[in-house]
Amino acid sequence: MVCLGNICRSPLADGLLRKKVAEAGLDIEVDSAGTAAHHVGDAPDERMQATAKAMGCPIDDLRARQFVVQDYDQFDRILVMDQSNRQNVLSLARSAEDEAKVEMILNLSHPNQDLEVPDPYYGGDQGFQEVYQLLDEATDVLLNELKN
Ligand code: 4NP
Repeated sequence: MVCLGNICRSPLADGLLRKKVAEAGLDIEVDSAGTAAHHVGDAPDERMQATAKAMGCPIDDLRARQFVVQDYDQFDRILVMDQSNRQNVLSLARSAEDEAKVEMILNLSHPNQDLEVPDPYYGGDQGFQEVYQLLDEATDVLLNELKN
């Protein structure tokens, strides 16, 4: 799961999928990263933590890290939140195989539309709730794919 800062959108996507994978009894590694380094080592944004906790998916223990080229070797699928994340991640791809791992996460729930998960960082609480709904829906679809 990749966003810009790894403190709002991608840690929530990470936490939601980790929880769903564990509840389904699957053995799948889930992680998240940001394309930027500003927040490396930080806990998720307090507003995202509060929204996630209220919805029963605490993400307090996650810490931000930066996306690195080795993530292409470590992971089979790389889900990005918006087109800017997509371009930044693709700029590190070394092959068509790497490129093929990169997907817009909302194409899981809204196929072929290339919709973006809006960045809630500079907005109000409503934005965090919206992000939660979008990512809960997308990770439900992903979990079903992984089960099959
Ligand atoms: P995220 O949100 O990419 O969903 O983690 C942001 C977090 C921090 C900043 C921008 C977006 N920032 O500019 O510091």
